[in-house]
Amino acid sequence: MDTISGEITVPGDKSISHRAVMLGAMARGTTVVKGFLMGEDCLSTVSCFRQLGVPVEIKEDTVIITGCGGQLQSPDAVLDAGNSGTTVRLLMGILAASPGLSAVLDGDNSLAHRPMGRVMTPLIRMGAQFASREDNYLPISVSGRQLWGISYSSPVASAQVKSAVLLAGLSAGGDTEITEPFRSRDHTERMLKAFGAKLESHGTTVALTGGQALHGCQVKVPGDISSAAFFITAALTAKEGSLGIKNVGINHTRSGIIDALREMGADIRLNNRRMSGYEEVADLHIESSDLRGAVFGGDLIPRMIDEIPALAVAALAARGSTVIKDAAELRVKESDRIEVLVKELRRMGADISERPDGLEIRGGRRLNGTAVSGYGDHRMAMALAVAGLMADGETLVKDAESVTVSFPNFWDMLALVSA
Ligand code: S3P
Repeated sequence: MDTISGEITVPGDKSISHRAVMLGAMARGTTVVKGFLMGEDCLSTVSCFRQLGVPVEIKEDTVIITGCGGQLQSPDAVLDAGNSGTTVRLLMGILAASPGLSAVLDGDNSLAHRPMGRVMTPLIRMGAQFASREDNYLPISVSGRQLWGISYSSPVASAQVKSAVLLAGLSAGGDTEITEPFRSRDHTERMLKAFGAKLESHGTTVALTGGQALHGCQVKVPGDISSAAFFITAALTAKEGSLGIKNVGINHTRSGIIDALREMGADIRLNNRRMSGYEEVADLHIESSDLRGAVFGGDLIPRMIDEIPALAVAALAARGSTVIKDAAELRVKESDRIEVLVKELRRMGADISERPDGLEIRGGRRLNGTAVSGYGDHRMAMALAVAGLMADGETLVKDAESVTVSFPNFWDMLALVSA
């Protein structure tokens, strides 16, 4: 793309939108969520809680939840989490800790191939009862019980595992503590505090005491940095111009993409930094920049796990090579993102190869537009579209409807800034 310009606002943060509905549903009183992401994933969470007997009203981008004070009802039908790992994994923690409740959880073909054992293992240690196929994949049935607190050391840095354990621990007997190898996103911890819960974090450990009630509150959802990442890459790799993205969440546990791109030479400014409730936000200003390759791994990876597809596309425009390691988690997302990125970007002429735990990208090759597939994975479709802006000729992204999972107006917004 030659020139980028404009000022945009990206839709609400997906992780925060899910949690607002979940905590609002479990709380006493009313919760009002503004800036809610009306994407398929978050709407799956809404429909699951409606089936669990919680009234949820939607008016434009505002969601009003009448909390059940922890008294969920057993649903009449299977709870369908669609494509959403956050919906199913956090629900497993909530449902397993709801005495007397029984439910069956299921999802789409992608979700049915994603590992659930990572959540079941700690919850079973807390006394949870699940039935699933031998290999711990969906569909999974849950029989709610009174659980007890545990101290758990998770082998993966996963906010979904951490959140499932903390949400179960809220109503369990005694103390619950979870430690991760690296710190994952902390939206659950921040939002629990907003709903009146007490918990402690030190290093990569979070602890809370069971038997706590939540109280409904107002939640303002910031723009999703994971959605902004595709436009940040588009702006950096444009030949000239700049882009403003207003009101983006820059929580430290999510902003690794900004640190990584700055290390590559990106000119990204964070203006008007401020707190929006318990979350930090800023207005981003991105100038088209000359990028250079860099090596990324370790604790930076969980801080940008969903943005690595956008980072990989930025690396295609950089001088020299970029290595992304310690990112094997990418293989168990909505698709195997390492495999799909390599396969589809190579079709466009990219010099990119797989590592068991990441990617190696040698930048500077011209890309040629061609037909590529998003494999039904929203972030793959968006990453390939941005690569298409950099390529000569036309790029056709097949299987692109999946963007509705996290960014329903992605195509219109891309057309707007690249016009
Ligand atoms: C999420 C956590 C991350 C992320 C996902 C959303 C969340 O997954 O990839 O898109 O909302 O907690 P893991 O916690 O499994 O790494």
